Amino acid sequence: MATRTRLIAGNWKMNLEEWAAVELAGSVADGLPNGSAEVVVCPPFPWLVPVSAVLQGSRVALGAQDCSAAESGAYTGQVSASMLNGLCSFVIAGHSERRRDACESNELVGRKAAAALAAGITPIVCVGESLETRDAGEAVTFVETQVDAIVAAVGAASLPQIVIAYEPIWAIGTGRSASPEDAQEIASAIRARISGANAAASADVRILYGGSANAANAGTYLGVPDVDGLLVGGASLKSDSFLEIVAVAG
Ligand code: PGA
Repeated sequence: MATRTRLIAGNWKMNLEEWAAVELAGSVADGLPNGSAEVVVCPPFPWLVPVSAVLQGSRVALGAQDCSAAESGAYTGQVSASMLNGLCSFVIAGHSERRRDACESNELVGRKAAAALAAGITPIVCVGESLETRDAGEAVTFVETQVDAIVAAVGAASLPQIVIAYEPIWAIGTGRSASPEDAQEIASAIRARISGANAAASADVRILYGGSANAANAGTYLGVPDVDGLLVGGASLKSDSFLEIVAVAG
């Protein structure tokens, strides 16, 4: 059985002034417990440079919250993956807030993941269903379709290099987290889908859970077989709560 390094990612979203972002990054770096889990923080774009300076020499990695699917050109307001290269080692792609607010399709999200890989950056590609879809009993098939688009875009051979975050939309920022059984059901369906494209990769690809993850429930998600880490929003905005989650991950 493959041993997958746990990954705890903090998604700061559109929060924190520069000084607060720098302070938070410094507190996370200074307070990091000894452990083997990989840790990444994803600040807003303008704070990537000042935060990267604070993280120098620490084992906290830097991630961006989005990238363009395009390499360069007339894409006002966008940032290419190659522009992030050298600064970031991770980038979130297809967060449900971007799928919702920027109308990002499965196909576009796939191309963003492929652009990240081409730039040498690990994409954390988000998938997850709405409450309506879950209540209709279609959560698994909905997520499988999202995963298929990612597989089609990045290609079977690249699958071991991606991270997939299962984030049920109804659990994000709501305080209503999914049960560990729900997380396991979808995570194992994701892994099975990956296996269909590349059997060897399915043991290596890391799958995160996200949606109202916190220090109190982190252990329950990390305790199920197919969840390898967490994508944390609200609880990543305070060093104490984020570091507690990191400590739970070991
Ligand atoms: P939350 O956000 O932890 O605040 O629910 C998670 C996410 O959106 O990545």
